[in-house]
Amino acid sequence: ALTWAPAVPPSDLEEFGVAAATVGGLKVALYTVDGEYYATADLCTHGAASLADGFLDGELIECPLHQGTFNVKTGAAVGAPCSVAVRTFPVKLEGGLLHVGLP
Ligand code: FES
Repeated sequence: ALTWAPAVPPSDLEEFGVAAATVGGLKVALYTVDGEYYATADLCTHGAASLADGFLDGELIECPLHQGTFNVKTGAAVGAPCSVAVRTFPVKLEGGLLHVGLP
C-alpha cells in the first residue's frame, strides 16, 4: 500500500506550476498541468540539478542545468541530454494539501 505524505498546498504551484517538497526524506518536485497534479523525484537523472528549479512548459519540465526535458506525467526523458527516466509518484489533494504517494 502507498503511504500518502503531506507535501505542499496547491497554491505553492500557482506561480511557476512547479514546487519542491521533501516527503519521507525524499526530495520531490510537484507540478500542475491542466488542473491535474503530478510528482517526480526532484533530482535530474543527468546531473546534480533540481527539477523544481526548472521551467515547466505544458507537461514538460526543462532541467535548469543543461536544459534536458522530462514528461512530468510519465517521467520519460524526452529531450537531450536526458536519457534516463525520472521516477514518478502519484499525487492527491486532501484537506487542502497535496499528498505524495510513496511505496
Ligand atoms: Fe539535468 Fe544535465 S543535470 S540536464
